[in-house]
Amino acid sequence: MINATVLAPYAPTPSLPRGVCFPIIVPIISTKGGEGKSTQAGNIAGFLADAGLKTLLIDGDHSQPTASSMYALDYEAPCGFYELLTQSVSLEDPDNIISRTFIPNLHLIVSNDPNDRLTLTMLQAPDGRLRLRNQLKHASFSHYDVIIIDSKGCVSVMLELILLAASQFAIGVIKPIMPDTREFLRGTVGVMASLLPLEAYGIKLPEVCILINCMDNTSLDRQTLDSLTHILNSRQYSHADQLNLSLLKTKIPLLEIFEAGHACGQPVHRLEHSTPRKISLSAAETMHALTCEMFPHWTVEFTRLLVSLKAGKQ
Ligand SMILES: Nc1ncnc2c1ncn2[C@@H]1O[C@H](COP(=O)(O)OP(=O)(O)OP(=O)(O)O)[C@@H](O)[C@H]1O
Ligand SMILES: [Mg+2]
Repeated sequence: MINATVLAPYAPTPSLPRGVCFPIIVPIISTKGGEGKSTQAGNIAGFLADAGLKTLLIDGDHSQPTASSMYALDYEAPCGFYELLTQSVSLEDPDNIISRTFIPNLHLIVSNDPNDRLTLTMLQAPDGRLRLRNQLKHASFSHYDVIIIDSKGCVSVMLELILLAASQFAIGVIKPIMPDTREFLRGTVGVMASLLPLEAYGIKLPEVCILINCMDNTSLDRQTLDSLTHILNSRQYSHADQLNLSLLKTKIPLLEIFEAGHACGQPVHRLEHSTPRKISLSAAETMHALTCEMFPHWTVEFTRLLVSLKAGKQ
C-alpha cells in the first residue's frame, strides 16, 4: 500500500534573477510518441506544487487526455483546452476553465478535443499559432509561478502554438535510443526551424533543454548519449546558428515507479523518497535534481521539500 500524504502548501520565498517574468511557461515536447512527455509533465508539476509553487498543468495533447487523467480532481471545470483556444469561454472567471487537482497548488486545464477539431481550427485562424501565447497573458494566469504544457507527439500546428507559448525554454523529452534521437533532431528541431521566420516579428524561440527519459545505463544507452552530446556540442544539427539545444544533466531512470505513479495517481516523489539502488537516484531525488536544474532560483524550496520527504515528515 502506497503511503502518500498531502503536503501542506507554503509560500515560497524565491530569490529571483532579474528579468524573470511570471508565470514561467514550459512546454514539454517531442514529435515522437511515447517518449514520456505526459508522465514527466505530471511529475514535474506535482513536485513544483508540493514545493509550494502555484502550478498550472495544461494538457495540450488536445485529443488524448493522458496528463489530464493523472491526478484526481477536487473541482472539475466545465471547459478546457478546446475552449481556451477557440476563445469560447470567458477567462474572467477562472472556474470556467481551470480545474483543481487533489494536490494543493496544482491546477489543471484538461484536454477535451477527442475528435481533433482544434488542429484545423488553429490552422485556419489568422492568429492560430499565437493564440495560446496570447490567451496565457490574461490576468487569470498571472498568479501562477509556473505553467507546464504537455503536448502531442506529432508534427502539427498544435505543437507550434505550444512552443510559441514558452516564456524561456522548453523541455524536449527523448529516450536514449538512436532512432528516437534522430527523430527528435529531424522532427522537433524541424518544427522549431519552421518557426524561425517569426523572429523577424520579435518572437523569440525558446531554448530546448533535452531531458533523457528511461535511462537504463546499458552500453547502448551510453553510446546514444555520447553521440547526442557530440551532435549538440559541435552544433551538428539543422539551423544550429539560430536554434539553441542543450542537454540537461539530470537523466530520468527507467523505473517501474514511473508507471506506478500514473497508475495510482500520485507524483513519483511521494512514492519513493530514498533507494538502496546504486545505479540511480530515488524518484524524489531525481525530481529534485531536475527541478533545481530547470528553476535554480527555487532550489531552497525544492531542497526543503526533499529534506522533509526523506525525514518522513511529509
Ligand atoms: N522513466 C520511466 N520509466 C518507466 N516507464 C516510463 C518512464 N517514463 C514514462 N514511462 C512510461 O512510458 C509510457 C509512455 O509515456 P507517456 O505517455 O508519458 O509518453 P508520451 O511522450 O506522453 O506519449 P504520447 O506522445 O503518446 O503522448 C507510459 O506507459 C509511461 O508510464
Ligand atoms: Mg502524452
